[in-house]
Amino acid sequence: MKAFFDASDVRIEEFEQLCSQAVSLSDYPHAAGIESNVLIYESAALRALIGEEEAERALLSELNKCLRSGPGVLVIRSMYNDHSVIDASTKLFKDIVREEREQGFGLGDHFGNNERIWNSFQKVCIKDPKTFVAYYGNPLLGLVATAWLGPFYQITAQVNNVKPGSKAQSPHRDYHLGFQASDDVIRFPAPIQIMSQYLTLQGAIAHTNMPLESGPTLLLPFSQQYPPGYIAYVHPEFVDYFNANCVQLPLQKGDGLFFSPALFHGAGTNHSTSDRLANLLQVSSAFGRPMESIDTQCMINAVYPVILDMKREKGIKDRFLNDILAAIADGYSFPTNLDTDPPKGGYAPIPEKQLVLRAIEDLWPPEKLRDALKDYAGRRRA
Ligand SMILES: [Fe+2]
Repeated sequence: MKAFFDASDVRIEEFEQLCSQAVSLSDYPHAAGIESNVLIYESAALRALIGEEEAERALLSELNKCLRSGPGVLVIRSMYNDHSVIDASTKLFKDIVREEREQGFGLGDHFGNNERIWNSFQKVCIKDPKTFVAYYGNPLLGLVATAWLGPFYQITAQVNNVKPGSKAQSPHRDYHLGFQASDDVIRFPAPIQIMSQYLTLQGAIAHTNMPLESGPTLLLPFSQQYPPGYIAYVHPEFVDYFNANCVQLPLQKGDGLFFSPALFHGAGTNHSTSDRLANLLQVSSAFGRPMESIDTQCMINAVYPVILDMKREKGIKDRFLNDILAAIADGYSFPTNLDTDPPKGGYAPIPEKQLVLRAIEDLWPPEKLRDALKDYAGRRRA
C-alpha cells in the first residue's frame, strides 16, 4: 500500500468489485438471517451467550469479522426488548428538546427543521440516572462495543429526530475522517486513514418504528473495505454508485443498528407522516490519547510572547510556526461540546491551533489571547 493516497488511487471499478460481494450465512453461525446483505442478530440468542466464556469469545470474533471483513453492518433485533426503557428515554429526549428550544439552544443541526440533541448521553444521565443505567447497561451494547474496540472505550450519543419531508443525506463516512474536509483527509497517511475506522463504532438505536417510507439509514454493505474511501465518497461516480446500490432496512422500536464508521451511508428521505427518532451512538476506543495530560493553555500563554517577538524582529516562517504550534496547541477539534462549540459548515469546529494562528497573524496582545483561550476552553467543556 502507498504511504499517501492521491486522486489517481480512487477507482470505481475496485469499489464496485468490493461492494458486489454477498454475505453467506454459513460464515456467521450466530446470525439469525441476512437481509439485503446486512447481518441480522436476534437479541435473545446473543444474550444467552453472554458470560459463557468460550461462546462469548466466538461471538465477539464473529461480530468483529462482520464489521471488518464482512458487510460492515449488522442489526440486533429487539436489542431493547423492554420498551419501557426506550419510551422513558424518548420522553426525556422530548423534554430536553423543549427545554433547549426555550433556552435558544439546539444549534448546529445540519438537518434543517429536524431536532438534534448533542451529548444526549450526559444530558439523560443527569436528568434521570435510573433510566440512564437501564439504557446504557444493556449488555448487548457492551458486547458489540467490546467486539470492535476491546474492553476500554468511551460512549458518546446524539439524538436525531427526523421530521416528515426531510430529505436524504449524501453518502458519507463518519467520525473521525468523515468530519474532515477532503483537502485535509488527503494529508493523512493511508495506514492512518484505514486504522481510524478501528477507533470508533457507529450505532443507532431506533426509538420509533422505522418503516422504509420513514427513511431509515441508507447503507452500502462492504464499502468500509475500500481503502481510499475517505477520499472517494465525495466523487460523483461514487455517489451515483451508492444511490443505485444502497440498501435500506426497516427497523422496529428497540432495534440496534451498528456499523463501521468507514461504511458509506446516509440518512434516507422521510416520506412518511411520522417522526423518525434515533439515538446515535459513537463508541470510541481508549487509544488515541497521549500518556500524559498536557495543559496546552498555559504552554501557549508562556510561548506566545516569544513568538510575537520573533515575528516582530525578523518575521517568522509559516512552516516554523506550524511546527511549533503543532507541538504545543491542540490541532484537533475533538472532543468538544457541540452545543456551545458547533461544527462550522458541516465540518469540525475550529481547533485551538487555528485560534493561536489567528492571534499571531493579527498580533493580538497576550492578554487578548489568554482570554480567548479561556473562552475557548469554556465553550468546549461538557
Ligand atoms: Fe453518518
